[in-house]
Amino acid sequence: MGDPLAIFGYWLHLGAAVFWIGGIAFILLIAIPASKSVPGNDSGLIMGEIAGRFGPLANWCILLLIVTGILMTGLAARYSGVMHQDNNWTIVLLVKLALVSAMVGIHFFRGLVLGRMIARVESGAGKSSLQKLSLNLVKVNLALGSAILLLSGALSYLS
Ligand code: HEM
Repeated sequence: MGDPLAIFGYWLHLGAAVFWIGGIAFILLIAIPASKSVPGNDSGLIMGEIAGRFGPLANWCILLLIVTGILMTGLAARYSGVMHQDNNWTIVLLVKLALVSAMVGIHFFRGLVLGRMIARVESGAGKSSLQKLSLNLVKVNLALGSAILLLSGALSYLS
């Protein structure tokens, strides 16, 4: 993939991967534990602010990953087509796309459904169990992101 457009697409793809998965890791491993050391309701307010700023950035990363991913797939010599899994590269890409679909699905379910349910529910057991589900889904997305990175490394190894 020598030409400038392909290199630029690759750079955008890597950058979007770093910002999205890096952001999830930062929120889970740094921001949430740090916010818990802040007394009173402020921790919830801080996390609300952080999530409110990270959400749109993650949306742009997803759009960039899909657009540049399609570009790179189209340019990839090893790609044999969805219906013709003639080689390991295409099979690994299809497994990767299945995990990406799950990760994007979880992202928008949390952002468009679960977040609104949590906002509507009065405090109490119902709210905290929804918040726990939301946090566990973020952990699932970090695991999916890590698996996608492993498969992406396998793709470049197989190419
Ligand atoms: C969460 C979403 C995604 C992440 C984190 C991700 C991550 C990566 C990374 C890190 C690489 C570089 C691998 C390397 O050079 O070692 C890569 C390459 C690639 N990605 Fe993605 N990607 C994602 C989504 C997609 C999507 C949606 C597509 C296709 C529509 C795609 C297609 C590709 C292709 C074709 C390559 C080049 C593989 C090669 O070197 O032969 N990716 N991806």
